[in-house]
Amino acid sequence: MSEFFDLNVGYVSFKNPVALASMAGITDSEFAKKTAQDAGLIVIGGYNLDEETNHAAKIMSGHGRKEFISEEPMDLIESELLKLQDINSVVALNVRAVNAETYMRAALLARKYNAVLELDAHCRQPEITSLGAGQELVFDFGKLKGIIHKIKRTGVVLSVKVRSNVVNNLMLAQLIEEAGADILHFDAMGAQGSDLRSLKDVRDATSKIFLIGNNSVHNFEDAQKMFGRGADMVSVARRALENPGIFNEIVSSTSAVQRQTGWYNAPKHICGGGDLRGLTFCCLPVKPCVVHAALKKIGMTAKEFAEIKLDFVKGTPLQYGEGTCFGTMAWCCKATKPCFLRDNVLDAIGLSGVEYTLLKKRMAEHILSHRKKLVSNDA
Ligand SMILES: Cc1cc2nc3c(=O)[nH]c(=O)nc-3n(C[C@H](O)[C@H](O)[C@H](O)COP(=O)(O)O)c2cc1C
Ligand code: SF4
Ligand code: SF4
Repeated sequence: MSEFFDLNVGYVSFKNPVALASMAGITDSEFAKKTAQDAGLIVIGGYNLDEETNHAAKIMSGHGRKEFISEEPMDLIESELLKLQDINSVVALNVRAVNAETYMRAALLARKYNAVLELDAHCRQPEITSLGAGQELVFDFGKLKGIIHKIKRTGVVLSVKVRSNVVNNLMLAQLIEEAGADILHFDAMGAQGSDLRSLKDVRDATSKIFLIGNNSVHNFEDAQKMFGRGADMVSVARRALENPGIFNEIVSSTSAVQRQTGWYNAPKHICGGGDLRGLTFCCLPVKPCVVHAALKKIGMTAKEFAEIKLDFVKGTPLQYGEGTCFGTMAWCCKATKPCFLRDNVLDAIGLSGVEYTLLKKRMAEHILSHRKKLVSNDA
């Protein structure tokens, strides 16, 4: 099953691109086993790793918030990891602490059990932020970078969880990637529901980091919106409380898309709001449309873009395309967009929809490997 989606990050392989996101005081090993075994990634926690954060959690629980509180936090997380040894989902520990050294101790434990460590730079409870932990970390790039560096020294697979629109999304995402984190868990919180635009922008501003899209994923359609904007995985928190079947629902539908197309998170067309991978489905850039703005953001001229695409298709079945809009399938649309002109060519050359899409996927990687810069705010 791992090969079906081919989702590997360091020493972990996800069986599918759906995750349970952490909810303090709720998502422990028992909840995970009962609710989320269909998910490829299960994030438990957030665990408070030291005296200070446990003290803060006690105050928060006095206000009615559920929290995991422990006198022996390292023993607690180790026993939780042990209890989850027999499931076939990857486990991540979402954690808060005051010192980098404490995160490193938890990271070593995570690594021992082939789990992921997730740095909680997301919690906005004042009791935690006043300690310089949780979301407060995103206001101090130097400190955040230093903590990521130190945690990565342990060799752990590291995820960093952040909320959108707290500081500059693109600068934050780039800092996290450059500092060496493996996964960016992005809560694309918007004014109403999820801010899909911010997710897309973060995808375009980063290169290789594994991107988990989070916020208001209630069903497969919500997941698909995030996949089409560059999420490698989606995560679900609150909805899992009302509908424990949600993981199975999203995994089944996403698996069907993967089987039918070979690219479960294929981008939307650029003019439909897709991320830059969508350049693979773009037309010959001869008319005024948003492709020009997209190319400008990555420092590529329309001529270079055309050459890169034509060069890629040479010697591949995509070079054919008699009767299509631009004479070669280099410029053809996503397979899910019905088009008898393209499908006639596919039939004539015996290329399946999956093969076509996989070539388009490789072409997307090829185009982006030629970008001169990542998208930034001043682009
Ligand atoms: C009760 C509750 C507790 C949460 N605790 C944490 C936490 O400890 N660490 C964390 O990174 N996110 C925490 N979150 C945020 C969720 O993981 C998630 O980012 C957020 O709820 C948006 O996703 P959703 O729309 O799927 O719920 C918590 C959310 C809720 C509702
Ligand atoms: S080139 Fe075509 S597919 Fe791309 S943005 Fe323009 S109209 Fe849309
Ligand atoms: S032939 Fe069809 S698939 Fe190809 S560019 Fe034209 S409309 Fe799109």
